[in-house]
Amino acid sequence: MNVLVTAGPTREPIDPVRYLTNRSSGKMGYALASAFAARGHHVLLVSGPTILEVPEAVDFLRIETAAEMHAAVEQSISRQQIVICAAAVADYRPAMVAAQKIKKHDESLILELVRTVDILGSIRQPMGFTGKLIGFAAETERLEEHAREKLLGKGCDLIIANDVSQPGIGFDANENKVLLVYRDHSVSLPQSSKSHLAEELANIILNI
Ligand code: CTP
Repeated sequence: MNVLVTAGPTREPIDPVRYLTNRSSGKMGYALASAFAARGHHVLLVSGPTILEVPEAVDFLRIETAAEMHAAVEQSISRQQIVICAAAVADYRPAMVAAQKIKKHDESLILELVRTVDILGSIRQPMGFTGKLIGFAAETERLEEHAREKLLGKGCDLIIANDVSQPGIGFDANENKVLLVYRDHSVSLPQSSKSHLAEELANIILNI
């Protein structure tokens, strides 16, 4: 099968030397890409900047901004059977990118931010994708409720939800503990390493 995975953070430029970003190592997305490739599937990994090595036998596209990630997904969507959005996409970007480095003048500085495109939210419509669509939800409260809202709102088959307020799991950590949220039920998986979890998740996703 053809599998597209988005991973890592996006960077939204403020000026030539500064950007807005999210806390994300990319580990979960890279581990998933690797698990699908190891099962013989054809994987395209679209990734924001990370320090990770590109997994073996994976097609790789590096992007910086949410707009670039969106364009890369849109361009390849017609070839995909499974799409997994594991990227921590910045929800807002500066309304204007300064051409020159912003110098400090005043005691405070107000940045105007505007929404970025919701990549996962635009895959069913307008992109018209009919394959298996899997998203992530990073939440600090009411995990299942918020994850199910995302599942329904973005037309996903599965949301992999994790509580990022718990120390030692989620962002930047090597381990994760997730709740699988489907339309009519949820399943909690035990805490484990991201690579072990990715193996388990690949099998689960292939069985949807
Ligand atoms: N996502 C995306 N494009 C965005 C924002 C999010 O593709 N601009 C995807 C993420 O990759 C993830 C899912 O949407 O699979 C949920 O991301 P999250 O940040 O938890 O949720 P949001 O939809 O941004 O909602 P909120 O920030 O309000 O919780």
